[in-house]
Amino acid sequence: MQIEGSVALVTGAGRGLGRVFARDLVSRGAATVYGAARDAAAVTQPGVTPVMLDITDPDQVAQAAARCADVDLLVNNAGVLAASTFIGAPSLDAVRLEMETNYVGTLSMCRAFAPVLAANGGGALINMLSIVSWFTNPVNGSYSASKAAEWAMTNGVRIELARQGTLVVGVHAGFIDTDMAAGIDAPKISPDMVAQQVFDAVEAGEIEVLADERTRRVKESLPRDHELIYPPLQAAWDGRAAGIAGRTAEH
Ligand SMILES: NC(=O)c1ccc[n+]([C@@H]2O[C@H](COP(=O)([O-])OP(=O)(O)OC[C@H]3O[C@@H](n4cnc5c(N)ncnc54)[C@H](OP(=O)(O)O)[C@@H]3O)[C@@H](O)[C@H]2O)c1
Repeated sequence: MQIEGSVALVTGAGRGLGRVFARDLVSRGAATVYGAARDAAAVTQPGVTPVMLDITDPDQVAQAAARCADVDLLVNNAGVLAASTFIGAPSLDAVRLEMETNYVGTLSMCRAFAPVLAANGGGALINMLSIVSWFTNPVNGSYSASKAAEWAMTNGVRIELARQGTLVVGVHAGFIDTDMAAGIDAPKISPDMVAQQVFDAVEAGEIEVLADERTRRVKESLPRDHELIYPPLQAAWDGRAAGIAGRTAEH
């Protein structure tokens, strides 16, 4: 599908990557861009229509689908990272927050907007996943699990929506230069680079975006993950436990 003339909705559009997604859609000639955010006042990009939306609130999700019934391009960008381990975390609060937002919230957006997309010719649905949809660094363990669930869901939704002509795009990236990765001292890709690749993929009809070199390398390594991916993570974890390593977890 072409971005020019499309009607798009971006979740988490008040800051970070979502802010750039919404801005780029305007510059690529989308007819309408709804910028959805928990605080609609944070959506200030010229040409973007603010919509109040917490993706974990079923009533707000239903209201957004009713109000934005002309959408043919849905960008499920909103996400949360609590930087929480599985065993060492004091409670399951982070597990629940990340699953409720990244997995259940995104799925409820897919479900609410599937009929909207069908009514508007099929269109496209983009889910913002992660490099850690494929492996788990315990530093961000529960986030990785939520992104793995979101990835599994994306692959199933693609099959379910194929007959209505909806392109379902999964986007994987390592560190992106936003608030989420602010505390990380490691190479980061710019949000502009991510947005550019995502909308190029939509226009080319591609189902997956691997946004940076490390992400491409990790996907290639998956058949040998216990040989290539986990030993360095174990070493970093052991070093961290010994108080000699910094945070190295991907988002
Ligand atoms: N940054 C990275 O290194 C990286 C790497 C790979 C993938 N990702 C993914 O990329 C996406 C965007 O992340 P980012 O880097 O832009 O992070 P960010 O700067 O922390 O922004 C997160 C966005 O999600 C919104 N959000 C969180 N919970 C929400 C909810 N319940 N309802 C609606 N909006 C909600 C936030 O809104 P508020 O302003 O209201 O909090 C904010 O707009 C996420 O899905 C993230 O997992 C990020």
